[in-house]
Amino acid sequence: MIQCKTSKSIGGMGHSLKRKEDARFIQGKGNYVDDVKLPGMLYMDIVRSPYAYAKIKKINIEEALKVPGVVAVVTGRDLEKYNLHWMPTLMSDTQMVLPTDTVMYQSQEVAAVIATTKYAARDGREAVTVDYEPMKPVIDPFKALDPSAPVLRNDKPGKTDNHIWNWKVGDKEKTDKLFETADVVVKEQMHIPRIHVASIETCGCVADYDKVNNHLTMYMTTQAPHAIRTVIALVAGHVGLTEEKVRVIAPDIGGGFGGKVPVYPGYVIAIAVSFLVGKPVKWVEDRSENLQADSFARDYHITAEMAGTKDGKILGTRFKILADHGYTDASANPSKFPTGMFSIATGSYDYDTTYMECDAVYTNKPPGGVAYRCSFRVTEAVHAIERITDRFALEIGKDPADVRMQNFIKKEDFPWKSPTGWIYDSGDYHAGLEKAMKAVNYEELRREQAEKRARGELMGIGLSTFTEIVGAGPSKDFDILGIKMFDSAEIRVHPTGKAIARFGTKSQGQGHETTYAQIIAEELGIPAENIAIEEGDTDTAPYGLGTYASRSTPTAGAAAAMAARKLRDKARKIAAYLLEVSEDDLEWEPGKFSVKGAPEKSKTIQEIVFAAYTNHPQGMEAGFEATHYYDPPNLTFPSGAYICVVDIDRETCEIKVRRFVAIDDCGNIINPMIVQGQVHGGLTQGIAPAMYEELIYDESGNILNGTFMDYLVPTAVESPSWETGHTVTPSPHHPIGAKGVGESPTVGAPPAIANAIVDALSPFGITHLDIPITPYKIFKALKEKQVF
Ligand code: CDP
Repeated sequence: MIQCKTSKSIGGMGHSLKRKEDARFIQGKGNYVDDVKLPGMLYMDIVRSPYAYAKIKKINIEEALKVPGVVAVVTGRDLEKYNLHWMPTLMSDTQMVLPTDTVMYQSQEVAAVIATTKYAARDGREAVTVDYEPMKPVIDPFKALDPSAPVLRNDKPGKTDNHIWNWKVGDKEKTDKLFETADVVVKEQMHIPRIHVASIETCGCVADYDKVNNHLTMYMTTQAPHAIRTVIALVAGHVGLTEEKVRVIAPDIGGGFGGKVPVYPGYVIAIAVSFLVGKPVKWVEDRSENLQADSFARDYHITAEMAGTKDGKILGTRFKILADHGYTDASANPSKFPTGMFSIATGSYDYDTTYMECDAVYTNKPPGGVAYRCSFRVTEAVHAIERITDRFALEIGKDPADVRMQNFIKKEDFPWKSPTGWIYDSGDYHAGLEKAMKAVNYEELRREQAEKRARGELMGIGLSTFTEIVGAGPSKDFDILGIKMFDSAEIRVHPTGKAIARFGTKSQGQGHETTYAQIIAEELGIPAENIAIEEGDTDTAPYGLGTYASRSTPTAGAAAAMAARKLRDKARKIAAYLLEVSEDDLEWEPGKFSVKGAPEKSKTIQEIVFAAYTNHPQGMEAGFEATHYYDPPNLTFPSGAYICVVDIDRETCEIKVRRFVAIDDCGNIINPMIVQGQVHGGLTQGIAPAMYEELIYDESGNILNGTFMDYLVPTAVESPSWETGHTVTPSPHHPIGAKGVGESPTVGAPPAIANAIVDALSPFGITHLDIPITPYKIFKALKEKQVF
């Protein structure tokens, strides 16, 4: 086992602070939305469609209204009166809050039942009956493009097909020419399956509209409270909910992974009902609703091609994608990037020719395309490049490690401009792979594999050497609904030298309470345990775009350092005044300023802060507070070298992941223990789509695995023992040299596992299998090759 250790733990803390009890926001016992209990609170449950595509003829609510405790049933027609039956998606598409005429996917919200208890609301839900006229749905995204397919979004004037948008990047002509002339060209058709974030807690809210003060407090499971408040004001400003009258509070949200970025209809209905009846309304979805109706992730059909030379030089790539968005494009992407950061798909390799193109389509499936622990489609990009690189190595008969070493961008070539225009900030890919190969004893493994192959045993070794792109983002390119993707920190240091710092991000278990405090401690010399960290309340925190896509460290982490540095500048001025010397005569060591050459003359940060309130220089503003809105000059480009070893039982096709070594490079590490935790969790969420998870629909649009009984989320039982380590290549533009890390393992693990399995099966002529790779898929592939 490689130990995750670093000689440099920023802020001097190699351990995690105890999670601070924070019951400030919740008037109940716990700290989750479901714990919020307010006087007179009503409960909401949602009637959902059994059909994937159907006309609504009539919604029968009379029986439901007879259920004791039921106070109202809300339909799309009710919301239509207030023009609240549609809402914008984060990709500027439109989504129904409740339908007035047609349902577009199975499990879509059809009506909401409001009652005095949650049991009455559920009984009321069961008592609502709906008369539908089912229609033939469009489920296959390829068939959705057929001119004979029904036009699903006929609510859009002039829409004549199911095509949403076309995106392209790169040089088509040059790439096509290369593929015509190159010595070696390989091609694979891949599907990155539709999956679900399946966070521990489902989505929910308590909408608390106070009629007297015309004010809405929204307790809600959101990763981006400020952006949500703005969206609420945009959607409901016309009925009086303007932004200053809305407070969004995100308490402990029970995991997010990108799935708690969008606005779901349940939130909007709860707000509308609370607004109309003047009482708090709670809505918390159950597990099946969460799995079946909330935003999905992935669902990219990719044709990946690579061109190169017979001796292993990669010359170019070509990617053609079909993106299935369900009935609306509800992705959570930055506006200018409909395919997110897919254009990082050129990978860690030095070549200059690529062309990528994507068409997005509507189908009768739930909407979404969220960045599930992924910087907006990086998972899809990394899978495509890492799989096709292995395919290329197989074609030319070279070891995939050698092909990677031969083609890596060299560390001295950073900053490096990719063929799609990204400026990779820093990296040392050779060092990462060398470390991983050493840890796993690569040569010995290949020798063992050769022996096993000779005996007919199935053993595979898979590599993934990925480059990530996180930290959205520089405001010149990155916005969501027009709001630039900066992030913020505000630090207030009290007279006694203890501080509170507030952020526009929102931790969902990543430990911001610990790491942000460490950054400030490192910069100001105030002990981390004396710094309270607060996020998730729009009334108190400075505006920010929230936490997803591993952006918190690159943006808000940087803002924390910059705000602390503003305070250190002020501290220098006060120290100079107190010590009666010039500012230039002072030197800083964490926690105090002392006079150069006379170290006994010094002032601690606590003395300086006290003076800021009691004895500050005349003409200087009193107090000790600073705010910083950080607009990153570039994204950060973490990387990783992962090696997976699998054994496959030739009789049962059972796959055993024998070893998994993950060497990550996220620049300077703030807290090694938290980073290790992030990597362990992320790897488990990487093995999930590689071997287990996929949302499956039949031809009628019925979801076939809409519960945890048949949608297997891996647990400790399925997870191998992860072996982790790191290399450190600081980001040159980040104030503390850190890059994001949260999603790297989720992004990097699937191709390592897929490559290992295909490697094990390659002697039989198998060159590709789509994830999730199950024993049955292996059995079928081997049978096709007449192994059985
Ligand atoms: O945006 P999110 O918090 O999900 O992702 P992140 O920026 O990658 O950070 C995840 C956690 O790892 C945070 O607590 C970070 O402060 C911590 N981290 C770290 O300790 N060192 C790094 N170089 C990067 C992240």
